[in-house]
Amino acid sequence: MAARKLLVDIHTHVYLPRYASFLRSRDVAPRIFSRTTPTGKTEERLLILDNEPSGGRPIGPQYWDRDEKLKFMDRHGINVSIISSANPWLDFLPAPTAHKLAGELNEDLESYCSTSPSISETGTTIKRLYGFGLLPLVPNISTTALLEIVDQISRLPHLKGIIMGTKGIGNGLDDDALEPLWAAIARANLVVFLHPHYGVDSSAWGDKDNGHVLPLALGFPFETTTATTRLILSGVFDRHPDLRILLAHSGGTLPQLSSRLASCVDHDPVVASRLQHDARYYLGKLYFDAVAYGSEELGFVSDVIGRAERFSSPTASADASKGLGFEKRVIGSSRMLFGTDHPFFPPLKESDQWKSVVENLEAIDGVDGWGDSEKDAVRGGNAVRVFGLESA
Ligand code: URA
Ligand code: ZN
Repeated sequence: MAARKLLVDIHTHVYLPRYASFLRSRDVAPRIFSRTTPTGKTEERLLILDNEPSGGRPIGPQYWDRDEKLKFMDRHGINVSIISSANPWLDFLPAPTAHKLAGELNEDLESYCSTSPSISETGTTIKRLYGFGLLPLVPNISTTALLEIVDQISRLPHLKGIIMGTKGIGNGLDDDALEPLWAAIARANLVVFLHPHYGVDSSAWGDKDNGHVLPLALGFPFETTTATTRLILSGVFDRHPDLRILLAHSGGTLPQLSSRLASCVDHDPVVASRLQHDARYYLGKLYFDAVAYGSEELGFVSDVIGRAERFSSPTASADASKGLGFEKRVIGSSRMLFGTDHPFFPPLKESDQWKSVVENLEAIDGVDGWGDSEKDAVRGGNAVRVFGLESA
């Protein structure tokens, strides 16, 4: 199996049929609604973001139909996908509903994956679809309920991790109440896929109609940046060094801001005293998807990951990574994983290949300092290792 170079998509979403039906039953966002087009056709629309233009976005079978997912994969040469439910998950539900639905959706996703085709020419049986389960991360949920669902996910053989947003159970991911959860996830060896939904205060976007551009291009990555930084500052990675967190959209702006973060921590003795390492060190504990659409960005993110180990001392200085050259870029590539964000960002005109996918593949191919083995790793080898697919 190891000899085969697989293309593995770790950032690819679904609204499972049960979830899509649930969204159709709602008359406030998040919801799916039908409307009649000027030409008399009925179409479905998805309305999920805060302050979203009231027409939402078009939605169709590519969001819930497994055959559409497999067709998309075939069209782009994707061998394996690790599917996650799309935002906003169960965040908006009361605790009992969220708890029940989480259990049901995890079972649904397990069967979506376990009944998918296998890749036959490999020695081991590897499926084409694996998944990230869901937790009922909502206010007033009990720790027992959360741990019960972690246990459920860890027993479902095709679920390899958990997708979550940034709110935790209402107070963010640095909430002390989540400590038992991080411990249980680390113990179960599940990967957390941290994904944005809320963006940031939309008053920053001004009055011009820029559609979905500002919330998606900037709000999403800023949200991931803030949530991850709060996790770092709370000392979660010191207390749970085995916790594996995969950041959407290449970690947002955290790589660009990590030295500034380290400097701000350095100048704040209260925060500094909580951490065992320089803030830059923790970026080397994280995983990053390669959904950045540009070679320079991927190269930069891998540099920042690859230098992290040099910052293990809490009093490291900026020149700690001197002399690493392209070596850091090679080291960092081992924590970056190809993704597509399918079915979001579809081509506007009928086309065989999706531009959003081709751009991410070309970006990987064009990173200076990554040789064939680093590119193969980012395209799939890292995912096989991180998600234990060889022994799946
Ligand atoms: N828009 C979303 O709402 N979610 C994604 O994952 C991508 C785009
Ligand atoms: Zn996404």
